[in-house]
Parts: sequence; C-alpha cells; structure tokens
Amino acid sequence: MNYRIDTTRSRALSERLKRAMPAGDTRSVTYHPPYPLAIARGEGATIWDADGNRFIDLLNNYTSLVHGHAHPEIVAALTAQAPLGTAFPAPSELQAEVAERILERIQSADLVRFTNSGSEAVLQAVRVARAHTGRVEIVKADGGYHGSWEQVPMTFGPASTGTPDFVRDLVHMVPYNSVDALEAVMAERGEQIAALIFEPVLGEGVIAGDPAFFAAARRLADRYGALLIIDEVVTLRLAWHGYQSVLGVRPDLTTLGKIIGGGLPVGAVAGRADVMERFAPNRAGFVSHSGTFNGNPMTMAAGRVSLDLLTAPEVDRINDVAARLGAGLHEALEENGLTGPVTVAGSLLHLHLQAAPEIRTFADVNLESEHLARLHLAGLDEGVYFAPRGTLNVSTVLDEESAAAAVAAVRRAAARVAEEVVQPA
Ligand SMILES: Cc1ncc(COP(=O)(O)O)c(C=O)c1O
Repeated sequence: MNYRIDTTRSRALSERLKRAMPAGDTRSVTYHPPYPLAIARGEGATIWDADGNRFIDLLNNYTSLVHGHAHPEIVAALTAQAPLGTAFPAPSELQAEVAERILERIQSADLVRFTNSGSEAVLQAVRVARAHTGRVEIVKADGGYHGSWEQVPMTFGPASTGTPDFVRDLVHMVPYNSVDALEAVMAERGEQIAALIFEPVLGEGVIAGDPAFFAAARRLADRYGALLIIDEVVTLRLAWHGYQSVLGVRPDLTTLGKIIGGGLPVGAVAGRADVMERFAPNRAGFVSHSGTFNGNPMTMAAGRVSLDLLTAPEVDRINDVAARLGAGLHEALEENGLTGPVTVAGSLLHLHLQAAPEIRTFADVNLESEHLARLHLAGLDEGVYFAPRGTLNVSTVLDEESAAAAVAAVRRAAARVAEEVVQPA
C-alpha cells in the first residue's frame, strides 16, 4: 500500500475531524503526520482501516488490549452485562471479583480503589500520599510517564506548557535508574517529599528498572518518611505479581490500568491498608474520591475476564514470543543498516533508531527520530501497525505466523527507509 494514495477515507475523515477537533485527533500520542489512520475494525491481532487496508496490530491500543481486539470471551461478558445495566450508583459483586483478583496479584496491596484511567489512579495515589504524609513534593524519573496530569510531567519541556511554576517546583526529576541522583535529591528535599513515583520499566524506550535503584528508592522513602508508588499501569502484564515482584521491591501504593479493564477505560490504586483507609468515606477527614464511572459494571465484567485469561503461563508465553520478536526485528533493521537496539522487557518492545548504542536512561531515547517516523509510515505501507515512536507489544492472540509476518513486514519497511535515506527524494 502507499499511505497517501490508499488511505483516502482516513484523509477525508481527518479533514472532517479537523473541523471538530484540534488537528483532528483527541489523544496527543496517537497523532502523526500526514494524518493518522481511521481504524474501522479490530479482531484478534488484526485491524482494518476505513479503506479496508489490513494491519497486524503490534500496538494493541498502547498495551491495554492484552488479548487483542474483540476477544470472544470479553465480547460475551460485555454482551451479557449490557442488558443488565451499564452504570450503578452503588457497589457491585463484579467490583469484588476484580478487586480480589488484583489483590491476589499485587502482594504489597491490602486494599484497592477503581478509577476510569491510569492518569486518575496516579492522581489519587499522589493525593492520598500527600494526605498521609502531610507533605506535597514528589520525586519521579525524567521521562517517566504517569498520564496526562500536569503534576507528573513526563519531562520538563514544551509538552508541559501551561503548568504553573509553583506546580513544577513540587516535582523533582531524577534520571531513571540513577541511585546517585536519587540519593542527592532525597538528601536535599527528603523531609518535604510525600512520594517517590516510578515505573518499574520506563515506558518511553522500554528500559527495565534496576533492582538496585528500586532498593534505594525503598530505603530512602523509609528513611525520610515518604511513600513509594510503583506505577504498574502497563507492567502488571509482565509478571503474575507485577514487575515489582521481579525487581523485589514492595511499594506502599501501586497504580494500575490498561489490562485490568479488558479494553475498557479503567484505572486503580492499590496499597497498604493504613494508607488506603484514608479513602474510606466513613472516616473523619477522608480523601474524597468520586467518579461517575468508577468501577462501572461494563469495565468490571471485561476486566474480570481479561485478568482470568492472562494466566501465569500465558504471561511467560507472550514474554517468550516478545523475546523472539525482538531478536527478529533487530535483525531485520540491522540487515538494512538501521542500527540501534531493540529493547525488550517481558512483552514490551521498543525500536530505537539513531539512538545511543546502549539505552540506559531517558536521555538515550530519541523519540523524535526522523528515521523512526519514516519506518512507522513504511511499516503501515507494509501492513504492520506499531507506535510512531517505535513502541510495540505482544498480545496473547499474536500467533507465531503473524509474528513472523510482522518481522517480514518490518524488514521490507526498513529496506524502503534505507533506500530513502541513501537517496532522498
Ligand atoms: C505507566 C503509565 N501510567 C499511567 C498512564 C496513564 O494511563 P491512562 O492513559 O489510562 O490515563 C499510562 C498510560 O500510558 C502509563 O503508561
């Protein structure tokens, strides 16, 4: 396919959307030039755009669709729930089912609350940490993504436009995995820090956490009386007990999202009983946490099935598929002179082009790589769908055949990019 010629319906829709929404999109990360594809349908590991072009989906809505699109058991759960009601102003049995499954897996947590997104989960975690400690400042990793809330900016830069200085002053950034930087900031600000919040695998670049860094975070949080929040919105899928179990760290609070909603909007904050009890509305001075759709039965019905389908052996299996996929993709890129590692953590992958030879921290990740943008479009032309920034992931429904076809597609795409780079049009 040729993107500009064969996606006329996507282009027309983009023009229509631009009259209703800035740049014709409603989610910063999904926009890319010349215009994003309009997706019409998804089934399993395949998506079709509005023109009927077909793609192997290696993005899975940025990891939320761990069982691919329209999984029959999730569709059945939603179809059964819809006629029974889609939102109630009261708790339900389904909430108990999902909460219990989460607590079985997150061993550091005693209690959980549901939200409608990972961003909200982080917001509530930080709020309750502030209430618990009586402090306001937080420490996070530069490049750590915790949603679109201004108080946890991914990095300080153009994307944090509009954030007041007094909010920026509350946030201390450290390079991911740098024990020295963490020690330095805690030595200086420790008594003011309410929470340290980190992803166990840095999503931007897929950089695995260093157990020594997380041990230091735990130790320093304890020494200064701050809480440690581990953001497992993405990484719960990487290990049965979450990636915190792989790193050997026990946080006070864990934030969750994506897969626990079975593809529907969701988030959760889970943690130590004495901290979480602050949300209890029957307690004086509680932390108010409302949300019209919190724990809604559609999300809970899909989430219960999603969690049950992602068994421990399935976690291991897709991690193995990802390891093989990563090796295949690396070879496909290198064969065409596109160097840069493919980082893999469990079922998460990131293609790095024009980046540092070793990806250790966010400063090594080049999210604006022109070659990556070209590879992304060439990948679409060849029938494979991954993020413009080079992130991808493996779902439980990506079979070996599709994984091999994806590698072949990336090989063809890389050859085209190599040609363009050598002989620019
Ligand atoms: C680690 C992490 N935390 C939080 C979020 C925010 O979740 P949501 O997009 O559901 O608001 C994301 C989203 O990608 C994430 O990757």
